[in-house]
Amino acid sequence: MSSVLVTGASGFIGAHVFGLLAREGHEVTGTWHGHEDRVPTVEGAAAELRSVRLDLEDDASIEAAFRAAWPEAVVHTAALSELKACEVEPERARRVNVEATAKLARLCQAFGARLLFCSTDQVFDGSRGDRSEEDEAKPIHTYGQTKLAAEREVARLLTHATSVRIALVYGESPSGDRSASEKVVRGLRVGPPPRLFTDERRSPVLVDDVARVLVDLLSERDLPLVHLGGPDAVSRWEFGVRVARAYGADEGAIEAVRMADLDLMPARPADLTLDTRRLRTNVPRPPRGLDAALAELAARAPEVAAG
Ligand SMILES: NC(=O)c1ccc[n+]([C@@H]2O[C@H](COP(=O)([O-])OP(=O)(O)OC[C@H]3O[C@@H](n4cnc5c(N)ncnc54)[C@H](OP(=O)(O)O)[C@@H]3O)[C@@H](O)[C@H]2O)c1
Repeated sequence: MSSVLVTGASGFIGAHVFGLLAREGHEVTGTWHGHEDRVPTVEGAAAELRSVRLDLEDDASIEAAFRAAWPEAVVHTAALSELKACEVEPERARRVNVEATAKLARLCQAFGARLLFCSTDQVFDGSRGDRSEEDEAKPIHTYGQTKLAAEREVARLLTHATSVRIALVYGESPSGDRSASEKVVRGLRVGPPPRLFTDERRSPVLVDDVARVLVDLLSERDLPLVHLGGPDAVSRWEFGVRVARAYGADEGAIEAVRMADLDLMPARPADLTLDTRRLRTNVPRPPRGLDAALAELAARAPEVAAG
């Protein structure tokens, strides 16, 4: 790719995509909104790296970012991704997650650029798991509804775009506290001890593997929709236990709770595990299993578990 625009390069997934593309010698423009300092710096990148401010609620800002990059491809990770924030401000969630994605899709069409849109497992209602791309999506909260609406805009406006429904992501985030594994490790290290659901099931995936797959998907033009998750289906509680084991921390400190025990706003879908066969037959390096990926993660930052 001669030039790639990564929206949300200051975010968890976007920072990893930006870094990987830069290390592989692509010309990359990354966007940030409130946290310029979280866009990664990449030593010895062969091609030009730029970072620009983007406000997804401002059409002129979206156009300016696009023109700064003049991209051959766009990886759209930026979003209002917090469930509660979307529920509290549904109109804002719609502007940021749906209208801005449609604006980007129209620009991709005008410029002939490929679009990878980061969607979510939260488009499903959770009434049963192992969902494939053929299953009907029926989101139960505003975040899921806006992401599904954005997928539909992308499919309506572009022929060679891909919406990627991503499962629960863990690993190292630019803020140090964004990811599912960081929350567990922090809870075990400094408290309060994690309280994790036994009745919420997901297909967790390491952020490095998400970035790898997204970059590989840039050259898969004929895949309109694909599920991206790890091969292990586990409850949130079991995920926490596996994280604790990988870091040599005390798994007994994790409290097992049920979703009904907490006053969740919004209510969460129960089983969001994904059938990822389509992904596995279309990318050369699909995500690794939980234990192998956690072992690598813990080996990279073992000090996190100390204390
Ligand atoms: N993390 C997960 O487990 C997960 C799972 C499934 C799907 N996804 C999807 O994957 C994508 C990336 O998720 P993430 O976890 O990396 O999100 P994140 O860490 O919350 O990052 C969000 C990014 O969007 C930017 N942003 C927020 N509001 C913006 C606005 N109004 N204008 C422009 N930029 C704005 C943020 O910029 P600043 O920080 O600079 O303000 C940040 O770079 C999202 O689309 C999310 O729906 C994530």
